[in-house]
Amino acid sequence: MTARFPVARLRRLRRTPAMRRLVAETRLDPAALILPMFVKEGIAEPHPIPSMPGVVQHTLDTLRKAAQEAVEAGVGGLMLFGIPAHKDGRGSAADDPDGIVQRALRELSADLGDATVLMADLCLDEYTDHGHCGVLTPSGEVDNDQTLERYAAIAIAQAEAGVHVVGPSGMMDGQVGAIRSALDAAGHQQVAIMAYSAKYASAYYGPFRDAAECAPQFGDRSAYQQDPANAAESLREVMLDLAEGADMVMVKPAGPYLDIVRRVRDAVDVPVAAYQVSGEYAMIEAAAAQGWLDRDRVVLESLTGIHRAGADQILTYYATEAACSLRSLRSRG
Ligand code: PBG
Repeated sequence: MTARFPVARLRRLRRTPAMRRLVAETRLDPAALILPMFVKEGIAEPHPIPSMPGVVQHTLDTLRKAAQEAVEAGVGGLMLFGIPAHKDGRGSAADDPDGIVQRALRELSADLGDATVLMADLCLDEYTDHGHCGVLTPSGEVDNDQTLERYAAIAIAQAEAGVHVVGPSGMMDGQVGAIRSALDAAGHQQVAIMAYSAKYASAYYGPFRDAAECAPQFGDRSAYQQDPANAAESLREVMLDLAEGADMVMVKPAGPYLDIVRRVRDAVDVPVAAYQVSGEYAMIEAAAAQGWLDRDRVVLESLTGIHRAGADQILTYYATEAACSLRSLRSRG
């Protein structure tokens, strides 16, 4: 009699869809997806973003509609980015109570209340005429500590407009601590902080800078965002943010930084989010438009990979669509 070989047959558990579903180690849940949304002041119609097909700069009205759809699809949270009508050196519109994000937050909280988690990007690059994430010194560097004062004011403006979670994304040293104490001093102890802790100086943000109209007018962001060559430094950023009071931390971009996602997930006991950024989105869309990729499968596979690497929450421009496809996959059984 011939040897019974192989004894271990991993294909047994792969044979049918029902079997694969039963043994899946990772499951995407729409409730853990966060939809980034752009809202622009002073436009009458939504503006398409050419480098991000399917994503638009919303008007307040279309924002409300898209937010409603996302929530109905089961998406867990919304992250707002504002594009103001007027920019200046200090990004005055960012903490104006009538600034575009504050108006959007007020409308969305009136519509949705606590039915979703309202988040806002907390940064200055969309609001400054020079496009940097902070205010500048006379010699044109980003002034860390002056910028912290601006961030503190923005946090309070967003909290007053109804934000549940602020997302500081400027990579200034001490930003989480400055925001936490400003929020607490103003009576907003309940507003949480999702820190963009490990945020790299990435070329994958290219399309976002069209979407948010925030490309730096000189230089780049390498003097405050992290060098893609570094990994241990991310853990240091994360630990500092936690010590300063971050409730959740984020790694950004996601796909090219899955090793960082895993290291952070293994090192901390708070929720770890990852941001599938504009360039990751644009690459999938561009290849799919050429017919080179099966778009729908790649979308879910890219999100599964990010989740498998250790991200509990995923910010993705695909949030609503992915939530809908996960639901229909599930109901098909
Ligand atoms: C900064 C910010 C950026 C993104 C989110 N917040 C851009 C940057 O740092 O240049 C990028 C998001 C994306 O590419 O999808 N406010």
